[in-house]
Amino acid sequence: MKFNIALLAGDGIGPEVINEAVKVSDAVAKKFGHEITWKPALTGAAAIDAVGEPYPDETHEVCLASDAVLFGAIGHPKYDNDPSAPVRPEQGLLKMRKKLGLFANVRPTFTFPSLLDKSPLKKERIEGTDLVFLRELTGGIYFGEKGRRDGGETAFDNCVYTREEVQRLAKKGFELAMTRSKKLCCVDKANVLETSRLWRETVQAMEKDYPEVTVSYEFVDAVAMRLVQWPNSYDVLITENLFGDILTDEASVISGSMGLMPSASMGADIALFEPIHGSYPQATGLNIANPMATILSAAMMFETAFNLPEEGKAIRDAVNKALAEGMVTEDLADGGKAYGTKEVGTWIADNI
Ligand code: IPM
Ligand code: MN
Repeated sequence: MKFNIALLAGDGIGPEVINEAVKVSDAVAKKFGHEITWKPALTGAAAIDAVGEPYPDETHEVCLASDAVLFGAIGHPKYDNDPSAPVRPEQGLLKMRKKLGLFANVRPTFTFPSLLDKSPLKKERIEGTDLVFLRELTGGIYFGEKGRRDGGETAFDNCVYTREEVQRLAKKGFELAMTRSKKLCCVDKANVLETSRLWRETVQAMEKDYPEVTVSYEFVDAVAMRLVQWPNSYDVLITENLFGDILTDEASVISGSMGLMPSASMGADIALFEPIHGSYPQATGLNIANPMATILSAAMMFETAFNLPEEGKAIRDAVNKALAEGMVTEDLADGGKAYGTKEVGTWIADNI
């Protein structure tokens, strides 16, 4: 098959980890007889520097004309401590999610057999963990009527959800649960927030359409706690944008390193694949960042955007082999030998 893939490397370590995902994807394409045409485009601080805008129209056009988007990372420290910066790289990410209609962010957390001792949690707590967050990505407090300051002394951010926004996300959650162990947890703060009560009411009304799925409703604070106590008790979790942002960072380290977890963002048409980690500015250009999260994001791309599970599995197997054989970057080296970003990527590509 032939694919056009938009390649948005972004900032910090983005370009380095993206290079390795390209190497591995090309190796998969070669092995299985596909043809990939990569379409690089600007985003984030790199795009602000070049054209003054973090998600330029040309980049949007490239994404729309592609079969999938592979994304690195966004963010640069020069903006972090400057609250008055007129444009920020993160605005590009939010604009991109909104304009591409990527309302469902799929963030899995799973463990690797060879890394059970690397987790900050005890081995017996995490064994068998295999959960997926479906985070709502284009609504809630991230997109409510513009946050503002009254007289400089009071600040507002607005959290808004419509029933339809909840339904379309929940539908994906129920469908995903049906393909797994048929357990769905709706994470909210319905004891305090009106938006959460709308979420709960909407999901409750959908239960009858999925009689095989067992649904639980849990408050976000309790989920934050249970995630470190019994992560293996969860399967599919659905939640709103901000809760999902926080909980998926928490969940991502359970496997042993944030540098391992991939993600997908989906909507009606196009899907985008990116590592969960950020732009890790301190590591930029040092060839030390872990490329595995981006490489596994490419695996998700083959599996979900192109419906090619064998190709995805070939990538996952090669990553597992690298982990088992100690072909790892410094975040996982634990005093042993640490390899560079490029060396790890090349090794994985050679083992496809
Ligand atoms: C993420 C990031 C973004 C978010 C930032 C960079 C805007 O933390 O993808 O989780 O908050 O959604
Ligand atoms: Mn985040």
